[in-house]
Amino acid sequence: MFEFLVWLRETDSTQKMLKEGNFPCGTVLVADRQKEGKGRKGRRWESQEGGLYFSFVLCEEDFSRPFQIPLVVGLAISDFLDSLGLRTMVKWPNDVYSKGRKIAGILVEKTRGRIIVGIGINVNQASFPPDIEDRATSMYIVSGRRWDRKEVLLGVLGKLQDYLEGYKREGFRKFKDRIEDKLLFKGEEVIILSEEPVVGLLEGIDEEGFLILRTSKGLEKITAGDVSLRPHL
Ligand code: ATP
Ligand code: BTN
Repeated sequence: MFEFLVWLRETDSTQKMLKEGNFPCGTVLVADRQKEGKGRKGRRWESQEGGLYFSFVLCEEDFSRPFQIPLVVGLAISDFLDSLGLRTMVKWPNDVYSKGRKIAGILVEKTRGRIIVGIGINVNQASFPPDIEDRATSMYIVSGRRWDRKEVLLGVLGKLQDYLEGYKREGFRKFKDRIEDKLLFKGEEVIILSEEPVVGLLEGIDEEGFLILRTSKGLEKITAGDVSLRPHL
C-alpha cells in the first residue's frame, strides 16, 4: 500500500503537492513543517516544527465510500497512540483527541480519480498559538516525553496499512464497533453546527459510519459534509 516515501524539510502543504502533482498510488509525502497546512473547508492547520505532517495517495477504485476513510484512519492513529501508552479517542468525523483536546487531524479528499489522505499529528510541540492553545495538544504534552517522529510515522503507517487492507477486504463493519467504543462525546449531549444546527444525545454511528443523534424528533442521521461536532453546554 505504501510504496514510496519522500521527506521534505518544508513545503506549502503535503496535501496540496499530492493533489496537484502526478504522484503514483502508494506515495507518502512527509514534511517537517508546512507553510500553508490546511484542514477541512480550507481552515488553517498549524504546522510548526515538532509535528508530523504527511499525505498519501490511495487508488480510488479500491474505496467506494470515501467518507468512511477518515474514521478508519482515525481509529488506526488512535490505536497506535494508545499502544504507546497514550489515551486517545476518535472524534467523528475526522479527528483524534486526547485529554479533551485535538492531537491529530485527518483530511480525505478526492481529486482526479485518486484519494489523497492527509494526516497531521502533534508530536513534540510544547505549545500552540493562542487561537488554538485551549483546543490542541501533543504527544509530548500528554505523555511528558519527546518522541522520535520517524518511529511514530513508521508505526502509524504500519497500523494504517493493516486497517485499510482490512477495510478493503471486509468493509466498514469490521471497524464500526471499535470506532464506536472510542467515540468522543458518546452518550453526551452534542450540537452539530451546520446550516441547520441539530442538538441531541450522541448515540453512536451506524453501519455506514453516519452519526446517530437522539433528538426531540427521534433518531437523526448526520452525514459528514459541512458539519462540526461540539459538546452542547
Ligand atoms: P474543530 O472542532 O477542531 O473545529 P472541525 O472538524 O470542525 O473540528 P477541522 O476543519 O477538522 O475542524 O480542523 C481544523 C481546525 O483544527 C482549525 O480550525 C483549528 O481550530 C484546529 N487546528 C489547527 N491546527 C491544529 C493543530 N496543529 N492541532 C490541533 N488543532 C489544530
Ligand atoms: C483537520 O483536522 O481539519 C484535518 C487536518 C489535516 C492536516 C494534514 S497535515 C498533512 C496534510 N497537509 C495539509 O495541508 N493538511 C494535511
